[in-house]
Amino acid sequence: MYPELQKELETFERRTPKSAQSHQKNLKRIPLGVASNYRAYDPYPIFVKEGSGSHFRDVDGNDYLDHNLCFGALMAGHCHPAVMKAVEKRLSTGTMFGMPHDMEWELAEEICDRFPVEMVRFGSSGTEATMHAIRLARAATGRDKVLKFEGGYHGLHDAALVSVKPHAPEFGDVNAPISVPGGLGVPKTSIANIPVATFNDLASVELRFKENPGQIAAIILEPIMMNVGLCIPQRGFLEGLREICNRNGALLIFDEVKTGAKLGWGGASEYFGVKPDMICLAKSIGGGLPLAAFGAHKSVMNLISEHKVFHGGTYNTNPVSMAAGLATFREVLTRANYAHVDKLSQKLTAGYRKTIAKVGLQAYIANAGANGALMLYPKEIRNYRDWTTIDIDLWRHYWFAMVNRGVMPQPYWWDEQWTISVQHTDADIDKHLAAFEDVAPALAKAQQERTAEVVAH
Ligand SMILES: Cc1ncc(COP(=O)(O)O)c(C=O)c1O
Repeated sequence: MYPELQKELETFERRTPKSAQSHQKNLKRIPLGVASNYRAYDPYPIFVKEGSGSHFRDVDGNDYLDHNLCFGALMAGHCHPAVMKAVEKRLSTGTMFGMPHDMEWELAEEICDRFPVEMVRFGSSGTEATMHAIRLARAATGRDKVLKFEGGYHGLHDAALVSVKPHAPEFGDVNAPISVPGGLGVPKTSIANIPVATFNDLASVELRFKENPGQIAAIILEPIMMNVGLCIPQRGFLEGLREICNRNGALLIFDEVKTGAKLGWGGASEYFGVKPDMICLAKSIGGGLPLAAFGAHKSVMNLISEHKVFHGGTYNTNPVSMAAGLATFREVLTRANYAHVDKLSQKLTAGYRKTIAKVGLQAYIANAGANGALMLYPKEIRNYRDWTTIDIDLWRHYWFAMVNRGVMPQPYWWDEQWTISVQHTDADIDKHLAAFEDVAPALAKAQQERTAEVVAH
């Protein structure tokens, strides 16, 4: 670890002693001391106390400008007034019934208005949405295999936990990546059913279809791969996947858990002009409550109506989440708010780019809709393997240095990205940029020294 990073870590520990204590307590009863592996990092994670608008405070009383926003699930920002009002109204009239109600068709209408689907079912998490979408695709085609991309993340079920963060040498040739389980406990049969291809490489997709004739039910992908920072589809890639699916009788599933709300009003299909057969939504559509949905053409969703595919869930369409969802669609994810976020995003991106150029940092900014990331690479990444070349210590230096200056620039982990909420302001972006300007010279210096060291060896 180099001295400047060491210094930032010491500052972090000095500022957050209560988080360290809370983490020690959690560790006794909860593996890694966290409720989801993504929340664990060294030396310990920040323990949160409360949030409002674009900020949160930790248990030590430090205030942070929040661009983590629950891993991008809060484009509404914390406690959005419209969401709070709707939720409070519901809380005193019953939180769960396990029975149908009128908010269901209302929210289904909202979704079908924006996205290219005719019918939807609801759930509580992105994992559920992709799991059911995959099952439906298998039922619709009578095929078991589902193609995914190396580095793509679609949740925690067996079909999704394949080649999420595989390592060399087990991941094989980039032109024909090997399907690698994402940890123990994923059955070998699941792995065998998930052929993997390389993002932005249509030839690797064609190869998989050739190797598995008539066996691939669907391609599932995030239209922008967002679990490797931001990996943008190159021109023609999404169109090419659409054509390959059409030619092979497979369905195209857009996992829009992140992109659905955060790219723009109509999600990725509007943004890129490519229509999938199925979409999966979660995170920011709930405005801060657990809400998910998956949808498709009637001919696919009718498999549920005809009792051929089973779907259920105790928490589905609980009135509190649905009230939050309706308020989110109608009062948060509006065209006017997208324009506001877009303006802030342009400003943040331009500011970062100016500072990067000024200090000579080898990096670029990727951005799309409410999302963006400082990508510590000399040139744009095209796929998962490009992403693995990052200098992790340099990224940690960036993250801890920003956090020490009261700006959480994105969730911890260099595979994530920032989110700008509808409650962020111009002043927030100024604060973010001022922190980066303060940090950037040390980052550039460290990068130059580390590059020189590598060359010397
Ligand atoms: C693209 C994508 N799909 C699916 C999921 C899983 O969603 P959840 O964590 O709500 O189960 C995530 C979560 O980060 C995601 O980013």
